[in-house]
Amino acid sequence: MSEQPVDDMVVTPWDVSGELDYAKLIEKFGTKPMTGSLLNRIESLVGDLHPMLRRGIVFSHRDFDWLLNHIEKHGKSDFVLYTGRGPSGNTHIGHLVPWQFTKWLQDKFDVHLYFQITDDEKFLLDPINRTYAQMQAYAMENAKDILAVGFDPEKTHLIIDSKAGPKFREVATTVSSRINFTTAKAIFGFTESTNIGMIYHAAIQSAPCFYPSVLLGRNIPVLIPAGIDQDPYWRATRDVAEKLGWYKPTALHSEFIPGLGKGGKMSASQPNSTIFTTDTPKQAGKKVKRAVTGGRQTIAEQKELGGIPEQCNVFSWYRTIFEDDDSALQKRYEDCRSGTLMCGPCKQELADRVVIFLEMHQSRREDVEDLVEQTIIRE
Ligand code: TYM
Repeated sequence: MSEQPVDDMVVTPWDVSGELDYAKLIEKFGTKPMTGSLLNRIESLVGDLHPMLRRGIVFSHRDFDWLLNHIEKHGKSDFVLYTGRGPSGNTHIGHLVPWQFTKWLQDKFDVHLYFQITDDEKFLLDPINRTYAQMQAYAMENAKDILAVGFDPEKTHLIIDSKAGPKFREVATTVSSRINFTTAKAIFGFTESTNIGMIYHAAIQSAPCFYPSVLLGRNIPVLIPAGIDQDPYWRATRDVAEKLGWYKPTALHSEFIPGLGKGGKMSASQPNSTIFTTDTPKQAGKKVKRAVTGGRQTIAEQKELGGIPEQCNVFSWYRTIFEDDDSALQKRYEDCRSGTLMCGPCKQELADRVVIFLEMHQSRREDVEDLVEQTIIRE
């Protein structure tokens, strides 16, 4: 697939690499930055703000202001959430970033969530090295991670593409009839050698934007919390929505958590710098302790000059998921900058938190095993 470079940055639904500049991404993708006034409106609706909102990790949106107008008029639960996972392997901690935020939205707004698992997409992306059966097996494994995040099982509906029913197919076919190849090429960078399954997949990933309206028998707005890499799908979907009589989907975009190595977002293709939810505590602890930090070459230099938290993967992990308390985060930042906090203990504390988190997640993963079947939509 061809790329969408912004300087050396590549952000597509299948590839995120290079130095990420979120302000440039907003410009390039034509989205809007989150603003203080939007945050105030959320706070006045639900009483508080998730740390990802307070810290600017949810940094951009599409028509979120429109959605707030809608719910201020029709009630705070008059929309549904939609997010997803492409099951090409085990789930990693990066995937949990948008999902934890999605859970918060589900709890605060008391809404239904449609969660798509695109086992077809992940097979079509690399049919030489993967089998469809393997991707379907990962779909079931990943479903446990998804439910282990704590979504309300009564209000959460898994759409597994390989198991999707006739109504879902009908929506996807309808969407596909309105997107021509020129538009698909311009949005996704498809080339002559892209297989036609990947091209059709654009309609499959669009379908959950409208499927809830079909199931509910009335037009209902959809909010998609996800990493900004998935945004091209929403661009294509929004182009056709109104022509088909449905609302345009709205979106909230979150930043990527980096891997523990040098540069780049956490990705399964770099297993040594990625923590999978299936890692043993020992494996995870070891990976964190080897993390690249924003520290100096020697302890003496670090004491004298201080560390650089802005360039530190470990600090980024605290900021994104492993420190909810704003004042503790600020203290860690200042202690690092002033040379009071060394990388060794900072990494050790993160390793301890990651281990506790994994133990809890893995035990919840076992507890939810029986819920998977009941949350899959079977038409
Ligand atoms: P996938 O499986 O690549 O990613 C799932 C979600 O995780 C986000 N993500 C990350 N967020 C923070 N830090 C990271 N290092 C990181 N890596 C991945 C992604 O942005 C995404 O939100 N085609 C999709 C599956 C899908 C989907 C959707 C995703 C279908 N419908 C609707 C989001 C919303 C995919 O392969 O996602």
